[in-house]
Amino acid sequence: MILWPLVTLASVVTSHVVREGNTCTLYPEALRHNGTGIDDSPSIHRAFKLCGKGGNVIFTDNTFHINSALNTTNLANCDVSVRGELRFSDDIAYWRNNSYSVVLQDQVTAWLFGGKDVNVHFDGGWYNGQGQAWYTENRNTSNQPGRPISMTFYNSTNLFVDGLTIIQPQFWATFVWQSQNVSLTNLVVNATSNDQWGTMNTDGYDSWNSDTLLVENAYITNGDDCVAAKGNTTNLLVRNVTCNHSTGMTIGSVGQNPKKPDYVQNVTFEDVRCLGCTDGAYIKTWQGTYTSSSSNLNGDSGGGGHGLIKNITFRDFEMTNVALPIQLSQCIYTESTSKSCNTSKMQIEDVTWANIKGTSRYNVAASIYCSDLHPCPNINFENIDIRSVNSTLGLPMYNTTLQHEVYQCKNVIGQKSSGIPCNHVAPDNYPQSPLGNIH
Ligand SMILES: *[C@@H]1O[C@H](CO)[C@@H](O)[C@H](O)[C@H]1NC(C)=O
Ligand SMILES: *[C@@H]1O[C@H](CO)[C@@H](O)[C@H](O)[C@H]1NC(C)=O
Ligand SMILES: *[C@@H]1O[C@H](CO)[C@@H](O)[C@H](O)[C@H]1NC(C)=O
Ligand SMILES: *[C@@H]1O[C@H](CO)[C@@H](O)[C@H](O)[C@H]1NC(C)=O
Ligand SMILES: *[C@@H]1O[C@H](CO)[C@@H](O)[C@H](O)[C@H]1NC(C)=O
Ligand SMILES: *[C@@H]1O[C@H](CO)[C@@H](O)[C@H](O)[C@H]1NC(C)=O
Ligand SMILES: *[C@@H]1O[C@H](CO)[C@@H](O)[C@H](O)[C@H]1NC(C)=O
Ligand SMILES: *[C@@H]1O[C@H](CO)[C@@H](O)[C@H](O)[C@H]1NC(C)=O
Ligand SMILES: *[C@@H]1O[C@H](CO)[C@@H](O)[C@H](O)[C@H]1NC(C)=O
Ligand SMILES: *[C@@H]1O[C@H](CO)[C@@H](O)[C@H](O)[C@H]1NC(C)=O
Ligand SMILES: *[C@@H]1O[C@H](CO)[C@@H](O)[C@H](O)[C@H]1NC(C)=O
Ligand SMILES: *[C@@H]1O[C@H](CO)[C@@H](O)[C@H](O)[C@H]1NC(C)=O
Repeated sequence: MILWPLVTLASVVTSHVVREGNTCTLYPEALRHNGTGIDDSPSIHRAFKLCGKGGNVIFTDNTFHINSALNTTNLANCDVSVRGELRFSDDIAYWRNNSYSVVLQDQVTAWLFGGKDVNVHFDGGWYNGQGQAWYTENRNTSNQPGRPISMTFYNSTNLFVDGLTIIQPQFWATFVWQSQNVSLTNLVVNATSNDQWGTMNTDGYDSWNSDTLLVENAYITNGDDCVAAKGNTTNLLVRNVTCNHSTGMTIGSVGQNPKKPDYVQNVTFEDVRCLGCTDGAYIKTWQGTYTSSSSNLNGDSGGGGHGLIKNITFRDFEMTNVALPIQLSQCIYTESTSKSCNTSKMQIEDVTWANIKGTSRYNVAASIYCSDLHPCPNINFENIDIRSVNSTLGLPMYNTTLQHEVYQCKNVIGQKSSGIPCNHVAPDNYPQSPLGNIH
């Protein structure tokens, strides 16, 4: 057995990798420096450089301090085991300046990870984004520039990530970008704020320009999309996921960029529980005209993009106290004002909601709003059984004459054969996050 700790003059302080054959075992600097949080990122880069092609990288059962951005891409035939805590620093000014671009909406990431034929196992380890600092500093603003996605899986083929546990993500927890055949199994995300500011934009999982994807057995507590299939996501299967306080399972938003069409096809969400979520199972697109946001922030300006959303299935959902269980909106960022709401250039077709049961927070079960320009063909409801929480308790709905569940529809082609019990017209100013009953 040959053991050679990598100690060179330049790396005495910064590297702590033990290499044995093609296995690199990582120890944190804190072990050699009396517990101080010296940056372990240089050691991590070194370990992947030495063992990232045809090797193994092991994070031992210790706390690693990650004080600088990680780029561990272009791995090949590599197995990674995470047994300790990966604690990302909360030096907001640093991350704002130094995170890596992911192109989409000018967002950035703290860790760019990827390769071909790569397996990652969280064997008792976890990722701690120390997001509270971000939540507090962000003060409920949306898409703050430079707020990094916790972990981005980029340019990967055959990547299997099991047991990834992200607590207090800085921003979106995971993002799959320009990749093929990527599976996240036994994923856990928990973004919970301990002050008056919310966990805005802490999506559990987002995908973009990627194909053949799996998310299975996940438990996500957060303040934004649980799982979101963004533009050019194809053949995504999401199965057995619990969404806690999040905004549910979604396609979108898409149609943000007039120069880049979005195609989302063959997506299935099944066996999902939404607990106290804002939305449950929904599709959201931008309006058809470009609108700039006064808040000037990254993801908040756009619209005018075209494309297609086709063959989407939401099935076997259990909703518990969900504000808007089922929605389709063609103007997610203008609907509350009804400005340009009816102009979307996105075509949406072949969408099925089946076996959706449980309770809604208000008197609304579904709002399906398609634009005049692109009415939606082949929208199907099968076996939908949603009751408001109050109705299950025998209590009346507050301040409304509509004491039954409302299903509001607009521009659904073949509405009569769709299975949707439409009993109200979907207005062009119905919000994504309703705050009360429909009147
Ligand atoms: C190590 O840290 C402890 C407290 O964290 C401190 O009391 C001690 O003096 C430190 N030792 C050295 C050699 O710096
Ligand atoms: C990440 O590292 C790879 C080398 O593995 C390099 O080719 C690439 O340019 C780096 N990406 C960024 C965004 O720095
Ligand atoms: C961030 O970048 C700005 C402009 O380049 C620089 O003035 C500032 O010192 C940087 N801050 C950090 C923490 O790196
Ligand atoms: C993407 O990965 C492939 C190998 O799978 C590699 O050849 C290519 O250089 C990578 N592209 C970038 C931009 O890193
Ligand atoms: C999420 O974390 C909070 C505290 O940060 C904790 O109270 C809560 O139990 C956690 N939720 C889950 C589902 O683990
Ligand atoms: C921030 O947003 C959260 C979640 O939406 C909300 O609960 C909280 O009241 C908001 N905080 C303030 C101070 O407005
Ligand atoms: C569903 O996922 C949970 C983890 O969130 C897991 O405990 C459970 O065993 C999974 N159920 C099935 C049928 O695999
Ligand atoms: C989606 O893919 C199409 C090609 O199929 C491409 O033209 C378009 O730019 C992509 N959209 C985005 C947002 O990258
Ligand atoms: C629709 O997508 C599902 C996967 O979500 C796939 O199994 C099915 O074959 C697709 N149907 C069509 C007609 O492409
Ligand atoms: C959708 O699924 C069908 C059936 O598996 C397949 O033939 C088709 O190519 C898929 N579409 C896309 C865009 O991947
Ligand atoms: C449900 O009933 C309670 C008690 O009457 C009432 O305070 C509450 O506003 C009702 N909720 C809705 C959504 O109408
Ligand atoms: C009751 O509903 C009406 C609209 O129908 C609204 O104008 C009014 O503000 C509501 N009252 C309360 C107390 O919420």
